Amino acid sequence: MSDVAVEVRGLRKRYGAVAAVDGVSLGVRAGEIVSLLGPSGCGKTTTLRAIAGFERPDEGEIFIGGERMTHVPPNRRHVAMVFQGYALFPHMTVADNVGFGLRMRGEAAAPKAAAVTRALELVRLGGYEQRLPKQLSGGQQQRVALARALAIEPRVLLLDEPLSNLDAKLRQEMRVELKGILKDTRIATVFVTHDQEEALVLSDGIVLMNQGRIEQEGAPYEIYERPRTSFAAAFIGQANFFRGVVREARPGGGVVVEADGLRLRGVACAEIAVGAPAVVAVRQERVRVLRASGGGYDNLLPARIELLNYLGASIQLVCSAGGRTLTAVLGAVGETDAPRERGAAVLLGWREGDALVFPSSG
Ligand SMILES: Nc1ncnc2c1ncn2[C@@H]1O[C@H](COP(=O)(O)OP(=O)(O)OP(=O)(O)O)[C@@H](O)[C@H]1O
Ligand SMILES: [Mg+2]
Repeated sequence: MSDVAVEVRGLRKRYGAVAAVDGVSLGVRAGEIVSLLGPSGCGKTTTLRAIAGFERPDEGEIFIGGERMTHVPPNRRHVAMVFQGYALFPHMTVADNVGFGLRMRGEAAAPKAAAVTRALELVRLGGYEQRLPKQLSGGQQQRVALARALAIEPRVLLLDEPLSNLDAKLRQEMRVELKGILKDTRIATVFVTHDQEEALVLSDGIVLMNQGRIEQEGAPYEIYERPRTSFAAAFIGQANFFRGVVREARPGGGVVVEADGLRLRGVACAEIAVGAPAVVAVRQERVRVLRASGGGYDNLLPARIELLNYLGASIQLVCSAGGRTLTAVLGAVGETDAPRERGAAVLLGWREGDALVFPSSG
């Protein structure tokens, strides 16, 4: 496809005994933001560095704008990267840092200055041109690094946790602004994060990685609503987990799992046979908290409210049920009928379709 700005095919990279990246393929179109999401050490930075050209793949190919770039040096790939530690030049002013790539390209002074100003305005640092990095906060330094990458108007922007040093409020604002900037500029972006919320908000597509491999990829909605493995269900969102054995499996995906004497109705997210060990995941916002006489749910479990955690927009209830701990999240407004006193006897209820059943490895 012609508008695929960056494509990775079958990338593998080992460091000694460690397979840092173990067969990753992905594509990003112009104007699209794809997030690499996954736990520490799963190979996100290594993948990004291979796209940028700082890491030579053991196997696989990198294409940028349809051109094979696997062995082309970084400065000829039309990519800009913001590194995990943002790596500003300490002895250069903000303006010189941001203009660095343009100077390397031999840009004349006037257009260079205009591009620097524009890039700094994009990251809301207009007026900071003459400061040195050490005169800036961590979050401001991070934004200078972003401006430096944007200034060269790359075809592909590679961002390695670019918002990690910002405070919670600024981080949320920058997330939205960054999305706006990237959509306007039509840059293809690969965004590395281990923050699931950031990935959900920012991305057109999420590539969830686990130990050097792609666990699942898809739109944020798909990954959240239809995780294909218990790893994906555990990594994105917060869920209650039950381990048990499949006792019934109906055509169409409905299954019954027996877990320590409970019979749980759910839907199979992958092929699973009667007698097989299984994991059941129920997102905490799908658990309803009912008065002890409640009904109308496929799964009902008597429980007691142990703790209430007030989260502002919502309330998390920590409940005990026959030696298990389950959590449920209620909106702070609405559902006013739901019991929410500590010690209250309740029924936790959820529908079959909200209990996701995965094969268990053991
Ligand atoms: N230069 C290196 N030499 C040896 N091992 C390395 C090197 N770089 C990375 N690794 C290893 O490769 C694996 C993947 O590392 P990578 O930096 O890609 O992870 P990551 O997903 O970016 O993690 P984080 O979220 O912590 O930044 C890790 O096990 C890491 O220890
Ligand atoms: Mg990393």
